Amino acid sequence: MKKLTLLGDLTPAQFLSEYWHKKPLLIRQAIPDFKPLLSAEALFEMAADEDVESRLVTHFERKWQMQSGPLAQLPARSQREWTLLVQGVNLHDDAADALLRTFNFLPDARLDDLMISYATDGGGVGPHFDSYDVFLLQAHGQRRWRFGAQKDLSLVDGVPLKILRNFEPQQEFVLNPGDMLYLPPHIAHDGVAEGECMTYSVGFRAPAYQELAEAFLQFMADSVDLPGRYADPELEPCKHPAEISRAMLAQVAHEIDKVRFTEDDIAIFLGSYLSEPKARTVFTPPQRPLPPGRFAQSAAKRGVALSRKTQMLYRGKHVFINGESFSAGRADKTALCLLADTRKLDGPSAAQASPDVQDALYNWYQDGWLNLV
Ligand code: SIN
Ligand code: CO
Repeated sequence: MKKLTLLGDLTPAQFLSEYWHKKPLLIRQAIPDFKPLLSAEALFEMAADEDVESRLVTHFERKWQMQSGPLAQLPARSQREWTLLVQGVNLHDDAADALLRTFNFLPDARLDDLMISYATDGGGVGPHFDSYDVFLLQAHGQRRWRFGAQKDLSLVDGVPLKILRNFEPQQEFVLNPGDMLYLPPHIAHDGVAEGECMTYSVGFRAPAYQELAEAFLQFMADSVDLPGRYADPELEPCKHPAEISRAMLAQVAHEIDKVRFTEDDIAIFLGSYLSEPKARTVFTPPQRPLPPGRFAQSAAKRGVALSRKTQMLYRGKHVFINGESFSAGRADKTALCLLADTRKLDGPSAAQASPDVQDALYNWYQDGWLNLV
């Protein structure tokens, strides 16, 4: 199997079996000669945008403070100990999207976003742990990471951030641009900027089962089909009119017990749920969309690509795009799975697609979910 420098000497399979969810890994020069994809100024501009999720964390006079974006004003770059965190940069910038996609040895359903942090000297978010795996790629300047697998994960009370009460790091490294640190969930860590620095975090998505179950039951409420109505032809006079009878309870329990969840129900729910765009996502439809015939001609010549904000997944015959689900026939599935996996269709593949797929491509183009290349 091909080796990625992203993982040093390891193949994706070796990385997954030895490190993923298990132990930290430092990869020196995971991306040799890495240059930041965005300037600090461009990041500050993004933080001022209300469609972008951002946070400012300061540690002035030894006091942790946090402010959520949009952030029109930031402290001076000459001031020590502040950091700006911009979430979901991949949704707004092609190069950031391309970097996130280089991690596609991991499933799209697990990959969350690319967060960029900018910090002045001494800046960071304090010693903490996360519930998710993360790859921390140093993009600019230097950051000192200290981390360890401590058992005591108790937090300081009364601060607006998760700060570990007793941080006991076991390892320490200074990362230079292109170096990358992988941390599994629940590893205590603290990254402190040594001079001005920028760090890119590739984050993962691991929904809580409670969150999935609540959303699943809501989803099922729309599709549950339980015919009939309560009836009691054998009813007898009651002594306690306020009491719900055992017979009534048994009859209702018997009926509700008929509601069954199939694997198909769960597949349709999961794909729709995981492909749902994030809260602030706004798609940009083409300003002057081509009519269907011209679109088909251009698609056949140039091909099409999913917009960086589009999440397209599939399972069996079910195809999901931005929260919508539909089932595809065998012939259409090939083209749709190719589009979902590679996020594009070249001209010949777009031209060969069935009329149904061509229609879908045109609708997605009109919605800004897909673009002509
Ligand atoms: C940062 O980039 O400053 C924070 C990343 C993290 O510790 O999770
Ligand atoms: Co963290």
